[in-house]
Amino acid sequence: MKLLDLPLELLLMVLCFCDVSSVMLASQTNKTLHDLACLRIVWISLVEDLRHRGFVDRLSAADVRAMPTSDLVAVVRRLVVGPAAWSPAQSSAERPSRSASHVVLRPAMSPGHPFSHQDVAVLPRGEHVLLNNSRGLECWRVADGVLVWRYESDRVEAFAADVQDGGESANLVICIGGAPPNHQ
Ligand SMILES: *[C@@H]1O[C@H](CO)[C@@H](O)[C@H](O)[C@H]1NC(C)=O
Ligand SMILES: *[C@@H]1O[C@H](CO)[C@@H](O)[C@H](O)[C@H]1NC(C)=O
Repeated sequence: MKLLDLPLELLLMVLCFCDVSSVMLASQTNKTLHDLACLRIVWISLVEDLRHRGFVDRLSAADVRAMPTSDLVAVVRRLVVGPAAWSPAQSSAERPSRSASHVVLRPAMSPGHPFSHQDVAVLPRGEHVLLNNSRGLECWRVADGVLVWRYESDRVEAFAADVQDGGESANLVICIGGAPPNHQ
């Protein structure tokens, strides 16, 4: 007996026990399997499985069950191919770049720390920038130049950030250097 001879309900159950790549592969082999693989219940199972394995930590089981299929697909896609900001925009091909707008942020300067000591990173979506300086790691909102958050430390050795929830929050990784050696 071939897999495709199974009744649809059983095929659907099989898909619900598969991982992402198996579901993707199965959906490419046969139109019936493709249609089954697009069903919401399959994507709930995939996200639930990823959640149990610790890959999705910001969603409860109830959140997952309440999400529309497109959002479930987006969660999985993000884990597989990274945030949308990592993919090249479709329409940007061959267009000469030019600056469309100009925003001036006015962070307070600390005495003795010239501007070149500030390290800047634009967050995905471009709505915020991170500024590392002698006061710590600061997050500035580009639209109105407001300081929205600060992590106080003068030993930020490295940082990385990733925007979540459509810009409502961000995950930050901050590496802090060890205590400076005690000079006597
Ligand atoms: C896909 O599988 C179904 C059975 O689940 C079968 O009826 C159908 O003919 C298959 N389609 C192709 C293109 O093989
Ligand atoms: C952040 O700023 C501190 C203090 O100005 C500096 O010592 C450190 O090297 C900076 N870290 C990065 C990652 O630029």
